Amino acid sequence: MRVAAVLSAICAAVLTFAVAGCGTGGYTDGGSQGAGKQLFTQACGVCHTLADAGTAGTIGPNLDDAFAQARVDGMTPDTFTQVVAVQIRFPIEMTSTGAPGMPAADDTLPSCDDVEGDAFCVRDQDQAVADIAAYVAAVAGTGVTADAPTDGKSIFTASCGSCHTLADAGTAGAIGPNLDEARPPKALVVDRVTNGQGAMPSFKDSLDSQQIEAVSAYVSSSAGR
Ligand code: HEC
Ligand code: HEC
Repeated sequence: MRVAAVLSAICAAVLTFAVAGCGTGGYTDGGSQGAGKQLFTQACGVCHTLADAGTAGTIGPNLDDAFAQARVDGMTPDTFTQVVAVQIRFPIEMTSTGAPGMPAADDTLPSCDDVEGDAFCVRDQDQAVADIAAYVAAVAGTGVTADAPTDGKSIFTASCGSCHTLADAGTAGAIGPNLDEARPPKALVVDRVTNGQGAMPSFKDSLDSQQIEAVSAYVSSSAGR
């Protein structure tokens, strides 16, 4: 079970980096859940589904599923926080199967000193890790799902904005085409969101047909305006 593997890696990581004694919870603390939620949506949601954040990424594991069992097994909130922090700091960037793993912290949470323009970045990476860890630990796998967003703009911000620029939504992603320039008709948006293409994942397992309809209507009506 992956979470258990991450957990056992914590002691090693903590000892290696001499940050704190294992199990004392000193690996990260003082995170703010509110800030963490927003950062998660910007930095992590593109790859991870997390119901509370309303994100539907499918490149990495569904974090509600990944942590639900650990919660049942009685993992304490503090341990949980450490697991998430370690994952962000020491991800497996290349998996044994050769499939792309999770990017390094300098890629998921790039420092504003290294980023030009208005792309996503953080001023204090340690604080960002603490905030995200506190947030994910509090909500992942609780089964207490905030209502998944149903309005197109919120769905776009949570699931699409980190890869696509769309001025109306205030997003500046550069992995996929700039949608203000592409101005895709609705049918094309529905097709891409449902089936994916190239580097764009399919969302048909993470967004229901109503959400796909809403985000497609939003993109086709707001792009280029
Ligand atoms: C580009 C895609 C991508 C981004 C962005 C990303 N992850 Fe991941 N994440 C992955 C992949 C892929 C894995 C599985 C890697 C592996 O097998 O080791 C993973 C694994 C994880 C796990 C372990 C889940 C488990 O089942 O044990 C956690 C926790 C996690 N990510 C949290 C985060 C957080 C928090 C962020 C934001 C700071 C983030 N991820 C950003 C792709 C991503
Ligand atoms: C991981 C990054 C990523 C995410 C997340 C993502 N896209 Fe894309 N998107 C791409 C890439 C890359 C392409 C270009 C695919 C190709 O043609 O090879 C693309 C293409 C598109 C196109 C076609 C544009 C054109 O003119 O050809 C639309 C429309 C689109 N995406 C909408 C969305 C919407 C809506 C979402 C959220 C539900 C989304 N994308 C999420 C990366 C992403």
